[in-house]
Amino acid sequence: MGKVFAVLMNKGGVGKTSLLTNLAALLANRGERVLIVDTDGQGNASLAFGQVPNQHAYTVADVFLGKLKLDAVTVNLADGLDLAPANDDMNMLEFQVLTKLKTYPKPFQLLAPAIREARERYDYVLIDTPPAMGLVAGNVLAATDHLLIPFVPEVFGVQGFIRVIEAIREFEEQQGKATQIEGAVGMMVDQRTSLHREMMEQARDYCERNRIQFFDTLIPRSIRFASATAYARKPAVWVDKNNRLVDAYRKLLDEVIGE
Ligand SMILES: Nc1ncnc2c1ncn2[C@@H]1O[C@H](COP(=O)(O)OP(=O)(O)O)[C@@H](O)[C@H]1O
Ligand SMILES: [Mg+2]
Repeated sequence: MGKVFAVLMNKGGVGKTSLLTNLAALLANRGERVLIVDTDGQGNASLAFGQVPNQHAYTVADVFLGKLKLDAVTVNLADGLDLAPANDDMNMLEFQVLTKLKTYPKPFQLLAPAIREARERYDYVLIDTPPAMGLVAGNVLAATDHLLIPFVPEVFGVQGFIRVIEAIREFEEQQGKATQIEGAVGMMVDQRTSLHREMMEQARDYCERNRIQFFDTLIPRSIRFASATAYARKPAVWVDKNNRLVDAYRKLLDEVIGE
């Protein structure tokens, strides 16, 4: 039975897609069967592997709307690694569902059945999300077991981080479902700046008080690598195997999957 992880944070640019695609690429390297499910209309998970989002004829939006099964929209990226892509179609989804609640009486249960099926075929299902807490995020919360919350130590970072965790807990209470917040991940961290060190400490403090794990491994800010990835059109961990960013991702993966 596969494990389901999702990244969630209601902000863009905090490294959700980078985190998810790099962990997926490392898991596939280790021989696991991995499915990435993209639920963000920007389709950045496709771009991370050199695919063009709007060239996918069928996407996760078709799965949400009950038109297609997940395996009918899935494409292969590499050995052991598949992607159920998203593109602009996703941007109409909320409107289509909320204006037809008679057709979709359980609007937060549109994705969960497909993910349950996928767990039979994959060791890991990793769900990427849009930068908003809306219909899609609710569906992802209802479909996942484990959550990774990226934290970038920039201004307003801690408040935004706390707000998302509280929103997740409220949603769970209302839906009667316990998603495990597997942990918070410090992303794009520069340990040399005192601002980052201070903010990391505040975030760690909050997590400790609320019994949320904050992973020891931090993903460092690496401008050189971010641009290399943009040009190579594949996840950083596949570009240069000996780099401090890649080492960090390997260590983080061990922490996340408990090895
Ligand atoms: N470790 C890193 N160091 C520097 N830049 C990074 C790092 N990780 C990601 N980025 C860059 O940050 C930007 C946002 O990352 P992304 O994963 O797309 O965030 P999100 O999915 O939350 O919007 C991208 O341009 C990406 O290349
Ligand atoms: Mg993204």
